[in-house]
Amino acid sequence: MPDTPAAEPPAYPGLPEPPALGAAALPAGTFAGQTVLVTGGGTGLGKAIATEFARLGANLVIASRKAEHLAAAQDALGGGGLLTVACDIRDPDQIAAAFDAADARFGLPDVLINNAAANFPVTAEEMSPNAWRTVVDITLNGTFFCAREFGRRHLLAGTPGSIVNVGASYAWTGGPGFAHSAAAKAGVKNLVETLAVEWGPYGIRVNGLVPGLFPHEDMTADIQANVRRSPDKERAQPAMRAGRPRELGWAATFLASPYAAFISGHTLVVDGANWQRRSLINPPMVPIREQFGKGPFGAPAAD
Ligand code: HXC
Ligand code: NAP
Repeated sequence: MPDTPAAEPPAYPGLPEPPALGAAALPAGTFAGQTVLVTGGGTGLGKAIATEFARLGANLVIASRKAEHLAAAQDALGGGGLLTVACDIRDPDQIAAAFDAADARFGLPDVLINNAAANFPVTAEEMSPNAWRTVVDITLNGTFFCAREFGRRHLLAGTPGSIVNVGASYAWTGGPGFAHSAAAKAGVKNLVETLAVEWGPYGIRVNGLVPGLFPHEDMTADIQANVRRSPDKERAQPAMRAGRPRELGWAATFLASPYAAFISGHTLVVDGANWQRRSLINPPMVPIREQFGKGPFGAPAAD
């Protein structure tokens, strides 16, 4: 034990807070007359993104599986043009039906926000094949199937459009404890680059948007428990704070807007520099099993 207690670290100011919720980063009416389809837009970050599009005049289509999430979208976003549609993005037929419903109500969506994803922490050696498949199927396959439906319809109609794929920074770094999601998000990021080139000549832009740590009340119990593993999560960030969901909404609306007309194939990271290396020397290596509080693989569980 040290003789003297460790000094409290200084209270660094960190990055300033953003403008308040309700401020708009783009001119009023930027998306007036346009339709934006947000997958998983009834919860968390998808809802925050949809909120900013609505504020700028867009009609919204929210697509996800669960009735309670679609009802939450109705409560939060129901003031303007809104359609909610039950859709599991693992199923291309359900995606086609969602686009049909959107088309019938508002016309073909001008913007697709591929926000829906699946994730839970699990070590690679304990991940079942079905757990792997489920996360890759929703996060990577679902994202591609939605983009494909959007791209095909715009190519046939000869109309421009914009896609934003929501990613994660472990697409670049790897994600210990999240092998399925990290691998899927690497695919999602790669799709941004491929599709931007394939569809650029037809007027379709494709970009990526990567949130850093954005805690919110809709996080699944698994992800909340993981966030709680970090005792002082604000101070673990170079920004000395987490992201505010509206900051992601502003970034998404910018990327999809005419003000980003020459930006395509780009992935914008909104994380206060959290994914960069931040130490002069590496901290000691703590195996992922230990971080989960697990003993050796294969050993009988302790009582
Ligand atoms: C290990 C798990 C598990 C867990 C599920 N599985 N949860 N394995 N640990 N915590 C396994 C199951 O045992 C099963 O495998 C397989 O995964 C499929 O599970 P189901 O419950 O049948 O799947 P389904 O009903 O389709 O639900 C999908 C889900 C669920 C991914 C499991 O959590 C979900 O609906 N999630 C959507 C929302 C979400 O995940 N949001 C997080 C996004 S946040 P077996 O072998 O038993 O059949 C995000 C943040 C990134 O991405 C950055 C974080 C730091
Ligand atoms: P969330 O609240 O759990 O949202 C996930 C959404 O995806 C839900 O609305 C869910 O709706 C939908 N969804 C899941 N599986 C689906 C399926 N098969 N078909 C259709 N919809 C499905 O998570 P979040 O934190 O807002 O995350 C949003 C995005 O940000 C994700 O892409 C995530 O990877 C990314 N991200 C988040 C953070 C963070 O700190 N929050 C960090 C990095 C990246 P239903 O259950 O109704 O289907």
